[in-house]
Amino acid sequence: MVFRSIANGHLLSLLASANILINHCLAKPIANISDIDAHLLSLKPSFFPDLETISRDIYNNPELGGSEFFAHSSTVNYFQNTGSGDWEVFPNLMPSLPTAWKIEFSHFPANWPRDQPIPTVGFMSEFDALPIEMGTQLGHSCGHHLIWLQGVYAASLARQTLIDYDIPGRIVVVGCPDEEQSAGKFTLEQAGIFDISQVWLMSHPTIANAIQPMSARQNIIVKVIKDTHFEAVKYAYNILVPLANITTLPGEFSTAALIEDTGFFVCNVVQADIALGVVGQGATIASVTDTINAIKTAQPGFASTNFTLIEDPNIAGGVQILFTGNAGHASQANLGAMALSIATFQALNATNGAFQFYLPDNTTIAELDFTVDVRTRWTTDMESVVDFVLDLIPTKSFSLDIMYPAYEPDPKLGPLFIDTIGLPEYGAQNWSISKTPPAATDASWVQQAQVLAKNGNHTLQSVEKAVLHANFNICEQPVAQCPFNHDPPFALIAGTDHAYDQTEKVARAIARIAVQLLNDANMMGDVTSNIRNGPAPNRR
Ligand SMILES: *[C@@H]1O[C@H](CO)[C@@H](O)[C@H](O)[C@H]1NC(C)=O
Ligand SMILES: *[C@@H]1O[C@H](CO)[C@@H](O)[C@H](O)[C@H]1NC(C)=O
Ligand SMILES: *[C@@H]1O[C@H](CO)[C@@H](O)[C@H](O)[C@H]1NC(C)=O
Ligand SMILES: *[C@@H]1O[C@H](CO)[C@@H](O)[C@H](O)[C@H]1NC(C)=O
Ligand SMILES: *[C@@H]1O[C@H](CO)[C@@H](O)[C@H](O)[C@H]1NC(C)=O
Ligand SMILES: *[C@@H]1O[C@H](CO)[C@@H](O)[C@H](O)[C@H]1NC(C)=O
Ligand SMILES: *[C@@H]1O[C@H](CO)[C@@H](O)[C@H](O)[C@H]1NC(C)=O
Repeated sequence: MVFRSIANGHLLSLLASANILINHCLAKPIANISDIDAHLLSLKPSFFPDLETISRDIYNNPELGGSEFFAHSSTVNYFQNTGSGDWEVFPNLMPSLPTAWKIEFSHFPANWPRDQPIPTVGFMSEFDALPIEMGTQLGHSCGHHLIWLQGVYAASLARQTLIDYDIPGRIVVVGCPDEEQSAGKFTLEQAGIFDISQVWLMSHPTIANAIQPMSARQNIIVKVIKDTHFEAVKYAYNILVPLANITTLPGEFSTAALIEDTGFFVCNVVQADIALGVVGQGATIASVTDTINAIKTAQPGFASTNFTLIEDPNIAGGVQILFTGNAGHASQANLGAMALSIATFQALNATNGAFQFYLPDNTTIAELDFTVDVRTRWTTDMESVVDFVLDLIPTKSFSLDIMYPAYEPDPKLGPLFIDTIGLPEYGAQNWSISKTPPAATDASWVQQAQVLAKNGNHTLQSVEKAVLHANFNICEQPVAQCPFNHDPPFALIAGTDHAYDQTEKVARAIARIAVQLLNDANMMGDVTSNIRNGPAPNRR
């Protein structure tokens, strides 16, 4: 498949008129790039070590979405001062997204007519981190420092290859802040930043190699403010009980994960530690221990979620419970700390309706907000899933954040990537196409897939841009032993030499695809054939 378009282009060129338009759809490939795989590999020492060093610096200086100032200045500094020098660098791309950046490079062969549009390929980088523990510790538990690396490395390889083979083309990298929380790519897309190219390429580290869809996501943020802290906690937990009890949602692969707003949290991290206090006649360490042990016995799914109890030093008769569970990604069903705290509330509240509940660190705050992180496979199902959840929430004090639409595997770029990564120079990797959405991504805002849903069958109709989002495995263990994205130990595997080696291969494969597209107008035409005419329907 990888070679098919080159062969077609050669054949079709016989049909072209003598006056060959090099950018015409019947044009033959511009350069003979039959040795491109060896060529890209030979460029690795010129670019990868420097960029790996910066990626490791970003890894060691994790920054929350929207505040990635170190990552921003490291990138700008490299491409303005240290790197190849002939990039056009756009720091602080938008006032509302000060850590966004863009770099651009164009190569024009000597005979290139300057008024002719230049073919373009875009790459996307990310660099935001996540909280990894209660408190304020951050870490790259989603590996976005590797997403930074794959974007700038692939672009650097593609740039040098255009020069070496004298292929006309423009290369753009957009540094996209805050993928995790506020859909940075949505803001960039609304500003038209991605309109410079019809093709956008990226990859994302995880624990399996797959071209696969990503879920639609929307957060429901529920605000509970009462007269006292104790009332707010009880009111919030009374809502959390039925939400934690949801067994079936509309749509496919739908989930509704609960996150308590206890100071420092982000909406898509499963909380590994939750504290809950209980006070009232009969609430003792012994009785509460018995209650929780009974829950754990009844529901074996809680086996790896633990708890410790202490007498509250500040509240007479109060018992503090600290639940410690597995973390992992909010899109996974998770009988963790949050779920056990809700089950414990439900059981204690049923024993004695007069029990009071509180969050141990501060009982003066009369507010306990929480977020329901809703995910579903198809964008078109999101409204019904959110409505289903809202029916269980009695208060009207809620807001909905920006929806992340579903990302659809690109029907052309996906198979092209699988063919490329299967070549020996990229490790002869055996990738597959999967129908399972492991998480959500804001790259879906660049793609904006339009899907026709008919009788339970879904068909991709068109896209705004052709977007590759390849999920690659950085874990050396069997998959069952690998921590998933957003689990704190994922930050450890994301810093290994193996993770960097995988990122290098995947990025080099992406660079190859970029060069092929710029070199071969037929192939570019094929890859962009799903793109609909006219502007994005959502553009404000
Ligand atoms: C491209 O170059 C290779 C190696 O030099 C050669 O074998 C091949 O025939 C060339 N292909 C075309 C289409 O010219
Ligand atoms: C939990 O769900 C079951 C089955 O859907 C329902 O019968 C039960 O009332 C629910 N319990 C709570 C506390 O919402
Ligand atoms: C809970 O305790 C068990 C048994 O000691 C242990 O294997 C498990 O790792 C603990 N889980 C957490 C999340 O600490
Ligand atoms: C908690 O107890 C109160 C008082 O008995 C009751 O009204 C409420 O429904 C209980 N909450 C849950 C989730 O069962
Ligand atoms: C508790 O929270 C309130 C309101 O945010 C704050 O004014 C107070 O200082 C906090 N108390 C402690 C002990 O942290
Ligand atoms: C690739 O994996 C698929 C299944 O995952 C298997 O059927 C196929 O034989 C593998 N191919 C190679 C070349 O290993
Ligand atoms: C979905 O499409 C397939 C193939 O066209 C068809 O066999 C199947 O009946 C359709 N499913 C539904 C629910 O209509």
